[in-house]
Amino acid sequence: MMLTIDPARWASAITLVAAWGGLCAAMLRKPAAAAPTGTADWLVVYASQTGNADYLAQQTAATLSTGGLSARAVCVSNLDAATLAGATRVLFIASTYGEGDSPDTAARFAGVTMAGAPDLSHLHYAVLALGDSSYANYCGFGRALDAWLGAQGATALFERIDVDRGNPDAIAVWQHQLSHLAGTSDLPDWEAPAYGEWRILERTRLNPGSAGAPLYRIALVPRAGALPDWEAGDLVQVCAPADPAQPREYSIASVPSEGRIELLVRLQQHADGSAGAASGWLCLDAGLDATIALRVRAHARFRLGENAARPLLLIGNGTGLAGLRALLKARIDAGVHDNWLVFGERNVRHDFLLRDELDAWREAGALTHLDLAFSRDDDGPRYVQHLLAERGDALRAWIARGAAIYVCGSLQGMASGVHEALAAALGAEALDALAVQGRYRRDVY
Ligand SMILES: Cc1cc2nc3c(=O)[nH]c(=O)nc-3n(C[C@H](O)[C@H](O)[C@H](O)COP(=O)(O)OP(=O)(O)OC[C@H]3O[C@@H](n4cnc5c(N)ncnc54)[C@H](O)[C@@H]3O)c2cc1C
Ligand SMILES: Cc1cc2nc3c(=O)[nH]c(=O)nc-3n(C[C@H](O)[C@H](O)[C@H](O)COP(=O)(O)O)c2cc1C
Repeated sequence: MMLTIDPARWASAITLVAAWGGLCAAMLRKPAAAAPTGTADWLVVYASQTGNADYLAQQTAATLSTGGLSARAVCVSNLDAATLAGATRVLFIASTYGEGDSPDTAARFAGVTMAGAPDLSHLHYAVLALGDSSYANYCGFGRALDAWLGAQGATALFERIDVDRGNPDAIAVWQHQLSHLAGTSDLPDWEAPAYGEWRILERTRLNPGSAGAPLYRIALVPRAGALPDWEAGDLVQVCAPADPAQPREYSIASVPSEGRIELLVRLQQHADGSAGAASGWLCLDAGLDATIALRVRAHARFRLGENAARPLLLIGNGTGLAGLRALLKARIDAGVHDNWLVFGERNVRHDFLLRDELDAWREAGALTHLDLAFSRDDDGPRYVQHLLAERGDALRAWIARGAAIYVCGSLQGMASGVHEALAAALGAEALDALAVQGRYRRDVY
């Protein structure tokens, strides 16, 4: 179902779904007391890459609980055929990544569970599919999941809801459905935190003379008041004046103790010579006195979390160094020096980003290995994935010591090449197992 913003259509749609929802509630609602201890009547399963589906799943479970239902949000990585066989009511919130693919957390579910044909005729379900209609395969994973559940005999509680770039109207329809399932008329406020007013403190071009597009290190502080809290791995969202309805995301390159949010932003240049809406605003147009609308977004999957004490292999290219730099800084500040960075760019002369800092960390022993691939310097193109292929023994030894792998940077070219190189060195199953254990994490775009 493709959702638009016509209020009259919404009103009738909501009336219809309300009637259907009431019927579902009557059929399915159970008193909280009947919930078996330690389990939940409702599973809210999220398949998320950068946390939106995760956030909506927590809100969904909370809304059902408000209505007295027993509900639990679980990551799809914890869902297998046996859990599905034992569940009767499951709400799925599924985003789409890559080119119509499942998020990394759903790789096993999509590849193994959905390759099977279990009997799910006992199951009632609904799907909230998150996506972006500018991609060819809009909501591809949510659609595939919905079709698969139906084909296994599961009964849809209501038609799949597709959410285009977080469209609040589509999310409101999901909320209405939930309030009917839960038998409550309360519609809780799911608004994300408001944008704050920030200003640029410093802006430095990091790659003068580069054959690639200009890339800037941009330091920002709130116009007034304290810095918000964040952790290495988190993102910011920036609203550009030219396109305020569609915020752009940037990985945070700094940690809170540095007193500022730093970003590494590549200027997007279109074929007609115009600049990208958000990167043009941040890199060129916004003066030091301009107000930048920005908010921090937790990105739990890319934080150090339970990997804080493990050796870390950080792999990335270009602006991907932003997220990796924040993770490294957090580790080094905490006195953890088992850090191996594999980074790629074009020319060593112009594109060795943050060279002084990385060299200093290496000399101090805080960065035990630093491997660099400069694609335009070597004989023939050479990328981070080629380095990984050459360093197979070291890679296996590092993983055997319990290391976790973090990949940040471009999806096109880098992330898939790195994935293949890691699978070749470690084995595809071992890499899947690392992903399930949270030891293989990606922030790729
Ligand atoms: C998780 C994540 C982390 C990122 N981290 C960085 C980083 O650290 N450094 C960096 O330079 N870039 C990063 N990006 C890319 C960045 O968000 C922008 O896409 C990039 O700066 C180009 O945006 P623009 O407005 O300048 O260009 P434009 O050409 O104006 O927009 C780029 C394209 O994105 C489309 N678009 C529409 N809505 C959105 C939306 N909500 N979000 C993104 N694109 C949208 C536009 O239609 C257009 O086709 C990241 C992206 C993601 C998803
Ligand atoms: C690199 C990248 C690839 C994406 N690919 C698709 C896609 O193929 N189809 C689609 O509908 N949405 C696509 N999206 C949009 C996401 O599904 C959407 O932003 C969603 O809200 C992300 O939710 P999450 O934070 O839970 O992962 C893509 C987003 C990114 C950043």
